[in-house]
Amino acid sequence: MKILVTGGAGFIGTNVVKHFAPKCDKIVVLDDLSRKGTEKNIRYQRENIANLEFVKGSVTNWETVRDIFKKDSFDIVFHLAAQVAVTTSVTDPRSDFEINALGSFNVLEGVRLTGQKPIMLYSSTNKVYGGMEEVVVEKMDDQHYGYRDFPHGIAETFPLDFHSPYGCSKGTGDQYFIDYARIYDFKTVVLRQSCIYGDHQFGNEDQGWVAHFLISAVKGSPLTIFGDGLQVRDVLYVKDLVRCYDMAISNIDKVKGKAFNVGGGADNTLSLLEFIDILKEMTGEPKTVSFDDWRPGDQKVYISDIREVQKVLNWTPEFAPRAGIEELYKWIKDHKEDIL
Ligand SMILES: NC(=O)c1ccc[n+]([C@@H]2O[C@H](COP(=O)([O-])OP(=O)(O)OC[C@H]3O[C@@H](n4cnc5c(N)ncnc54)[C@H](O)[C@@H]3O)[C@@H](O)[C@H]2O)c1
Repeated sequence: MKILVTGGAGFIGTNVVKHFAPKCDKIVVLDDLSRKGTEKNIRYQRENIANLEFVKGSVTNWETVRDIFKKDSFDIVFHLAAQVAVTTSVTDPRSDFEINALGSFNVLEGVRLTGQKPIMLYSSTNKVYGGMEEVVVEKMDDQHYGYRDFPHGIAETFPLDFHSPYGCSKGTGDQYFIDYARIYDFKTVVLRQSCIYGDHQFGNEDQGWVAHFLISAVKGSPLTIFGDGLQVRDVLYVKDLVRCYDMAISNIDKVKGKAFNVGGGADNTLSLLEFIDILKEMTGEPKTVSFDDWRPGDQKVYISDIREVQKVLNWTPEFAPRAGIEELYKWIKDHKEDIL
């Protein structure tokens, strides 16, 4: 069995490689190493994954992508390569489009033109549902906002409404992956992920806030919250996500051509204030937190309704936020020299 992971040197990609490498003969990673920290992840993979083949290149380059599919016939393709920050997509919408929209198209076309029929998984985002301005958000208590009318969170039936260049470019890939199942009978599945966190994540202020705060805490850097800290997200530890990928692959006939919301769901949410409390308890130290203005477009709440993926795949998150955060904190402390 051969597996391709685009963006395989990234956070989720490295966890996918670790999980799936023992199950296959060869695992190919295509990554341009543009994300900070990826050179450390690829070094880790080179040292630990015997059946790894690393191709340094960009999904935007058609010849590179085509040659990968000419060289090998794949059983599974994880398309994770992306420009991942909304903020960067606003300052540089062209490269965001080229990486996320054109890059996704190149991967699909690489498969189509070589006549392969791998199972293909696309890591999409909750941003395809837009700003959700019409959804009523209420202050639930002095630590949380919440949805007034969506106790289980946002389901796949919520209308698509691409906001921001990132929302548009990721949404384009999302729709192309679904449509290639319809038009060309591809075995694709789309997972619309919310906040994922875990080992091998080099989070920063713009993307990956759980890791960003934990890294700042270990560094002793000041912590800044944009807004009042009552904002809530559902959070999912990466090992639970990768287990969901595995179950989607094993059950491709049930999920082919469909999109699912995948996150911690309504049972695994966290506000920033709650997170800071966990951090204080875990480290046993008081933390200095400063507050700054809300950033444009920041949502007060996002919670995925994960009941559909739970039902279809019989999957459910196993790591509660506190347990997952402890795992990541330990990983950061054990890899201090790489991170700090
Ligand atoms: N982490 C999350 O919370 C989250 C949430 C929703 C969706 N996603 C999606 O999951 C996927 C993986 O995200 P991640 O969190 O691991 O981020 P990441 O930045 O760690 O991984 C993305 C990888 O893509 C690579 N890459 C960027 N441009 C490339 C290009 N032109 N060609 C080849 N490789 C390129 C980067 O170097 C990086 O290794 C992305 O598609 C992202 O949109 C992530």
